[in-house]
Amino acid sequence: MSGFNDNSFRKLIYGVENKVPLKNNTTSIEINFDNAATTPPFKAVIEDVIKFAPYYSSIHRGEGYKSRYSTSMYEKSRFIVKQFIDDYKDICDVIYVKNCTEAINKLAEIWAYDHKNSIILSTFMEHHSNDLPWRRNFDVKYIDIDKNGCLNINDLKNKFNIYGNKISLVVVSGASNVTGSKNSIHDIAKIVHSFGAKILVDGAQLVPHSSFSMGQDTCGGEIDFLAFSAHKMYAPFGCGVLIGPKDFFNSTNPGHVGGGTITYVTHNKVIWAPSPDKEEAGSPNVIGSVVLASSMKLLSKIGMNEIENYERTLTAYATENMTDMDSVILYGNYDDILNKVSIIPFNIEGMHHSVVAKALAFEFGIAVRSGCFCAHPYMQRLLKLPDELIEQMAYIDKDLQPGMIRISFGLYNTLGEVNSFLYALNVITKNKDYYTKKYGKSGQIF
Ligand code: ALA
Repeated sequence: MSGFNDNSFRKLIYGVENKVPLKNNTTSIEINFDNAATTPPFKAVIEDVIKFAPYYSSIHRGEGYKSRYSTSMYEKSRFIVKQFIDDYKDICDVIYVKNCTEAINKLAEIWAYDHKNSIILSTFMEHHSNDLPWRRNFDVKYIDIDKNGCLNINDLKNKFNIYGNKISLVVVSGASNVTGSKNSIHDIAKIVHSFGAKILVDGAQLVPHSSFSMGQDTCGGEIDFLAFSAHKMYAPFGCGVLIGPKDFFNSTNPGHVGGGTITYVTHNKVIWAPSPDKEEAGSPNVIGSVVLASSMKLLSKIGMNEIENYERTLTAYATENMTDMDSVILYGNYDDILNKVSIIPFNIEGMHHSVVAKALAFEFGIAVRSGCFCAHPYMQRLLKLPDELIEQMAYIDKDLQPGMIRISFGLYNTLGEVNSFLYALNVITKNKDYYTKKYGKSGQIF
């Protein structure tokens, strides 16, 4: 790390020095601490969009040079994705979709063909994208969490003891989008496989921040299915990925159907194309996929361990200082910083989360997210919210609903930015009434 306000990764990011308007009619370079939601693009990604665009054409069908070139770039990108996630024994297919949510919906749809009456085991810490898609066609049970919001592995075993082989699939986040808590996915996989079930890892918050392999690690099992989004890994061009065994996709019906998914069709018969084509109905997002590969090449060159270690120093520095601050409440487990990605949720006693988020953005140019982070059941547990309140949530103004403020780092954030944030937080905590009056809505403050 070269200094407080600089790191060697910063120059790789597009727009990172752009100024944004503040409330007092001045401007400042935005500090983006909302990387768990989405990341800015790599410059290399933007350059590759521009380089590729003149050659962009339809894939898989055209005979023109540009078609053949685009097809080869598209297929090559699958290979790079596989290398990045260390596909074990090359038995998996990379299927492109539009984001992690669509990847999980797709698997949920396909899984329903052959596992209709089975149980899906999700967890209390999932965001809605790894919960709601499963509720449509399955009975969903949830693995419990402890008081810090970490997964209770004993409850995983407990659920298998209760439901046995009725559980067909365990769906678990690699890291939580709320607390950043990482799950021991390979250990979980080993347990899941010992009961004859499969595992899907929602990698949206893990793959961009951690060194990750789908293959077995020294003592755990391999990951059967993986989903993640390119927009959280510096390639925000509408691409997501579902990875799973070729044999599985080839032995079942496709999710969506249409052009590109078949080998031959008569009015009486359809012969599906082999996977991954059978899972990619219609013209795919070629540019999005090609530049996801560009981003992965760059991330690999930097080294995911290096990235994780760097982001961890930011997390450790921020949390150490936030713990010392009056009236700051941190959520999650900070005893073992190795077991979390760079996400820190917090509240300031006596202030509404939306007031804090607005003050940070409008007064200090610091972008954060606040609210319930598309993970209501998890937030209910972390905030200890009574059921009666949850039932009223839909009728409460969003700016009055309970929630938290979340900061989340990317590889380009700096210790200098963390210091600016700590300074801003200090000012806000010392002027709670002022900011509440300025940005708060009247009504009950949770
Ligand atoms: N799941 C994303 C987030 O946590 C959108 O912000």
